[in-house]
Amino acid sequence: MLNSQKNLIELQAVDKNFVQGQSSYVVFENINFTIRRGEIISIVGHSGSGKSTLLHILGLIDLPTSGRVLVESQECSFLSDYELTEIRKKYFGFIYQVHHLLPEFSAIENLKIANMIASENQLERSQHEFLGLLDKFGLRDKANNYPSQLSGGERQRVAIARAMVNQPKVILADEPTGNLDQNNANMVLDLLLENVRKENIATIIVTHNMELAKKTNKVFLLANGKLELLNG
Ligand SMILES: Nc1ncnc2c1ncn2[C@@H]1O[C@H](COP(=O)(O)OP(=O)(O)O)[C@@H](O)[C@H]1O
Ligand SMILES: [Mg+2]
Repeated sequence: MLNSQKNLIELQAVDKNFVQGQSSYVVFENINFTIRRGEIISIVGHSGSGKSTLLHILGLIDLPTSGRVLVESQECSFLSDYELTEIRKKYFGFIYQVHHLLPEFSAIENLKIANMIASENQLERSQHEFLGLLDKFGLRDKANNYPSQLSGGERQRVAIARAMVNQPKVILADEPTGNLDQNNANMVLDLLLENVRKENIATIIVTHNMELAKKTNKVFLLANGKLELLNG
């Protein structure tokens, strides 16, 4: 099988319920989904449809109620927390609606800390590489700015650069441009897509903005507990 066609993450018959007191709430049922190397897709759906829950299951942050999650054909249901964390560090980069940068550290320090956390307190990359990564997001001259000294779009670009710092195989982005105005949202998403395409990083973008979703190769709709392919 060609490397590019290899299944990276696979969901098989995944159900998710939340139990609260006596009652159980079904978020989705029987989700079957595959993302391959370098594939770039988006998931749209109304607020409350389960997009974040689905992303958490794909990123091994939350477990399905039933069904299987496979990462490169490895079944993850029975792994320990330690093993799940190791897979998360090796495979995933996360981007959220809120940047979650550490406020007391500069842009470049935020990247360095993310690199150290993933590699047992060793810096695996050189200063030149960290600057190069910031440069890809138009932030070379902002490397020493603190988050409070960056605009909303710039902060989100640092957060995206940080998600790429450990060379993940998959980026999971939950409403990555949800806090930005239309122009900034377009610019930030274009930079994200340009860079993940170059690096052949599989990417799943959750958004409720159809115009932004259409920039990806495949658009899925999550509605009424089902995941449906809209195009692609
Ligand atoms: N930890 C939780 N406990 C109980 N219900 C939850 C929990 N997380 C999410 N939900 C519920 O699951 C549904 C889907 O939530 P979510 O995945 O956040 O939707 P979306 O991201 O599409 O807005 C919502 O009805 C939400 O209230
Ligand atoms: Mg959400």
